[in-house]
Amino acid sequence: MALKMKSYLPTEDELLEKAPVPAQIEFCNVTKLYGAVAAVKDISLSVSRGEFLTILGPSGSGKTTALMLLAGFTTPSEGDILIAGKSVSEVPSYRRDQGIVFQSYALFPHLTVARNLEFPLEMRGVNSAERAKRVSRMLERVRLSEFGGRMPSQLSGGQQQRVALARALIADPPILLLDEPLGALDRNLREQMQIEIKDLHREFGKTTICVTHDQEEALTLSDRIVVMRSGQIEQIDTPEALYDRPNTRFVANFLGEANVLEGADLKVQSDVVPSPGMVAMLRPERICVNAPTGPRRSDAEHRQSVAGVIEDMIYAGPLRKYRVRVGDTVLIAREHVASGQEVFGAGDEVRLDWLRSDVRFVTA
Ligand SMILES: Nc1ncnc2c1ncn2[C@@H]1O[C@H](COP(=O)(O)OP(=O)(O)O)[C@@H](O)[C@H]1O
Ligand SMILES: [Mg+2]
Repeated sequence: MALKMKSYLPTEDELLEKAPVPAQIEFCNVTKLYGAVAAVKDISLSVSRGEFLTILGPSGSGKTTALMLLAGFTTPSEGDILIAGKSVSEVPSYRRDQGIVFQSYALFPHLTVARNLEFPLEMRGVNSAERAKRVSRMLERVRLSEFGGRMPSQLSGGQQQRVALARALIADPPILLLDEPLGALDRNLREQMQIEIKDLHREFGKTTICVTHDQEEALTLSDRIVVMRSGQIEQIDTPEALYDRPNTRFVANFLGEANVLEGADLKVQSDVVPSPGMVAMLRPERICVNAPTGPRRSDAEHRQSVAGVIEDMIYAGPLRKYRVRVGDTVLIAREHVASGQEVFGAGDEVRLDWLRSDVRFVTA
């Protein structure tokens, strides 16, 4: 029979497709020295295909350096970077097939929006009919169809950043690199663009490495977050695990607010025996602020209660943040504003309750 029937047995190619995908990006003991300063110190890390990984850390912690090493704008002093299993140490930046977005947009100021988008296609030798088709499709995708003829300076910050994202994606590179992509935008626009980036990631499925110092951005966007400190990796985890189970005090403080339970008045009652050098940590939203004789929400054996005095209350829309003095420590408690809830003011005596299972131990 001349007709080719599809076999029900998987072909070798199909079997290979189903095999576990190797990491698409690997940092193997990478160090980058600038003189005596190690901007990046012995970092190892692997990123899977399609993953959205955020590098989060304070200014100067080595985030941009890590990204520039991956982009090939600078080379490691030690260690190696692999893409799809192959070392890229000899591959120049323009041949690494990565889309890059910078905080400053870095659009070509003397080219129209459409010409900006065309550029990566031209570099790859795509013919002009195909270029026009792809540019128009991409402009539509980022809702900038009417703006193709404008110069970048005639666009708002948010629009320029959408052009930069479109330009990074248009040649369909497998990897997308974002360096503080929303850093120049105001808060509302930043939140809108976070959704935009998330949608683009879902739609195009690019392996994405995003650098930011904004913890909220990292929590919102990422499959996993790498927390960096002084050139080193402090912890790698999913957003939820990082927030809920930080390993160190640094991570606990960098991702949100953290109460460290120290001192005689806050002797922690816990079933876990902390190792030496660990401190007890409690997130503000895990603390309930109650009247001293108010009802208790859980069994005594699971709960710890301490007496305190309100220092002040900060109202922030959906949240109330209390600062509560307990002996010589001030704890922060955060409560969602709800109807019928008792509100306390400075000087009020209160009882703080929390579940023992909500206490975490982190290295000091
Ligand atoms: N080209 C360079 N020359 C010298 N020092 C640099 C250079 N680039 C970065 N550094 C230093 O390396 C450290 C990390 O910088 P960077 O990677 O830009 O941090 P981040 O992006 O986290 O703010 C800083 O101490 C910075 O001053
Ligand atoms: Mg930086």
